[in-house]
Amino acid sequence: MTLDEYILSHSEPEGDYLHQLWRATNIHTIHGRMASGHLQGRLLKMFVEMIRPQHILEVGTFSGYSAICMAEGLKELSKDTTAGEQPTRKLYTFEINDEMEDFTRPWIDGSDVADYIDFRIGDAMTLAPQLGISFDMAFVDGDKRTYRDCYEMVLKILRPGGFILADNTLWDGHVVDPAYDKDKQTHGIEDFNDFIARDPRVEQVILPVRDGLTLIRKR
Ligand SMILES: C[S@@+](CC[C@H](N)C(=O)[O-])C[C@H]1O[C@@H](n2cnc3c(N)ncnc32)[C@H](O)[C@@H]1O
Repeated sequence: MTLDEYILSHSEPEGDYLHQLWRATNIHTIHGRMASGHLQGRLLKMFVEMIRPQHILEVGTFSGYSAICMAEGLKELSKDTTAGEQPTRKLYTFEINDEMEDFTRPWIDGSDVADYIDFRIGDAMTLAPQLGISFDMAFVDGDKRTYRDCYEMVLKILRPGGFILADNTLWDGHVVDPAYDKDKQTHGIEDFNDFIARDPRVEQVILPVRDGLTLIRKR
């Protein structure tokens, strides 16, 4: 047994539905590995249960894997809503690639957490601020070339004390590999990492999970 197998066999199972979605994503899409997968999916769900957000924003739905995981956390929270909390928690997730809609929407609608997900096709950069919502948590997982712009957009609509989770911030280790110095996506991630490391508006820590997941708290 490998260490990865050991970790997964001692973490909450992803469940049949998500496992089927993971398989379908890898069979029917070119970049299937973009989906969060078992370990990160369970971590996202756990973060939702810890942060207890009313409103979550996701930039980059892709096949819906991470959206369903976070919505599972919202559903779990709705079972034990404490005094002062509203029961209507929601994840707003945006996907800019309209070709994904035919694949993703049935998977979201067919899940048992569909009521917790508002899936929209379009550019989160312009559409998310138009919602007029103050978010408690955001999962940033869109275009790596413009991560810093996306961060600024999200920070504006995140409440003080809210959390941003930014995915792929180690980018396969390319952030410390000179061979990737001219790669625009690596540059985008490096620029983002350097910027937030000295941004006084936030606290931040990079978790070396999967491809790097940065936790950011707005002061
Ligand atoms: C890494 S995938 C998302 C994976 C998904 N969050 C998961 O973990 O299962 C990134 C997705 O972001 C989408 N995207 C990139 N820029 C975007 C934007 N500005 N607004 C909405 N979606 C965007 C891409 O089309 C792509 O499908």
